[in-house]
Amino acid sequence: MAIIMAEGLARTFRTRGRTVEAVSGVDLEVGAGEIVGFLGTNGAGKTTTLRMLATLLRPTSGRATVAGADLRRDPAGVRRRIGYVGQGGGAHPDALVGEELLLQGELYRMTRAAARERAAAVAGRLGLADLLDRQVQTLSGGQRRRLDIGLGLVHSPPLVFLDEPSTGLDPHSRRELWDHTRRLRDEWGTTVFLTTHYLEEADALCDRVLVMDRGRIVIEGTPEELKRKVAGDVISVEVADDPAPAEAVLRARPEVLALTADGSTLRLTVARGEQALFGLVQALGGAGVRLESIQLTRPSLDEVFLAATGHPLHADLPIPIPPAPATGLAGPASAGPADPTGLADPAGPTGPTGPAGPAGPAHEGALGARRA
Ligand SMILES: Nc1ncnc2c1ncn2[C@@H]1O[C@H](COP(=O)(O)OP(=O)(O)OP(=O)(O)O)[C@@H](O)[C@H]1O
Ligand SMILES: [Mg+2]
Repeated sequence: MAIIMAEGLARTFRTRGRTVEAVSGVDLEVGAGEIVGFLGTNGAGKTTTLRMLATLLRPTSGRATVAGADLRRDPAGVRRRIGYVGQGGGAHPDALVGEELLLQGELYRMTRAAARERAAAVAGRLGLADLLDRQVQTLSGGQRRRLDIGLGLVHSPPLVFLDEPSTGLDPHSRRELWDHTRRLRDEWGTTVFLTTHYLEEADALCDRVLVMDRGRIVIEGTPEELKRKVAGDVISVEVADDPAPAEAVLRARPEVLALTADGSTLRLTVARGEQALFGLVQALGGAGVRLESIQLTRPSLDEVFLAATGHPLHADLPIPIPPAPATGLAGPASAGPADPTGLADPAGPTGPTGPAGPAGPAHEGALGARRA
């Protein structure tokens, strides 16, 4: 069952007479209980898409259903059922960890007893149980990020958006965060939609990866599917004697899609390495070829990213800026960062600069981890 369905979601910004097409027509579907990741360079449109899906930014066009509620018609319903943890986080540095979690529950109008019980459960799940009486500013980067995520989970949303949850963490803390994220999904069934710049994070953590580039999703699938689709597997065969007979045998095999020779090593591209391997070894043996070594290598997501976008993940890209129209009235496209929703719950505060009111999750802070 899909927990997110989006069609043609787009957002254009107009600032100082220039138009930036941040997201240009994204279609996506996320199943309940999936961990799905947006992978993309700076400025690809990941945060803009997430903020649209979380009702923090009005789409210029397109439609979506998020956690069973229509994004345009029922933004308050969406907000109640999602958690949103922004790129920056935002727990108050002087506050105590336990207080922050409780306050978050109360912002969502939970009773104090219910908030207390849930805060304890969230703290247990995220490895924060021993830190409840610590000041936020004394936490390590990894602990702090887990608190940010905890703040997005206090009201038990079935779906949580995490914008770059592990940026800036050391490899150990990053792996720890992956474990916690998996357990969220495995034990609580929480659907997780995250963004990342890290290929290894997309590969290790995500059930499905959506590669975003210049406002569009350019390729999507499980990490394994993507690697297969784009590059195929590589088998390197090192022969003990003259490579010519081995090359002749291998070139005749239908499963060999490409072959390059480098001295006594032959590199073959095949669709499914583990299936091809045995037959190739048998064929070589049958022709009397003696092997020194044979190795199967799966392509990495790096290669997938390069093939799908035409540039490596960490290249600095110029952001395409279409020419500004000669005339134009201020419409949704002209809204800047101070216009977060245009969809705001009439009962609640309307912007990220508004007070965190008891009506709860109507601005970015209360949607997860930031207070005004
Ligand atoms: N409020 C805004 N006003 C004008 N332009 C904006 C605004 N928000 C985002 N943009 C532009 O939209 C594009 C997409 O930005 P977005 O923040 O979605 O990228 P991102 O993929 O999250 O990048 P990063 O990896 O750096 O976080 C960028 O060119 C950005 O400058
Ligand atoms: Mg971003």
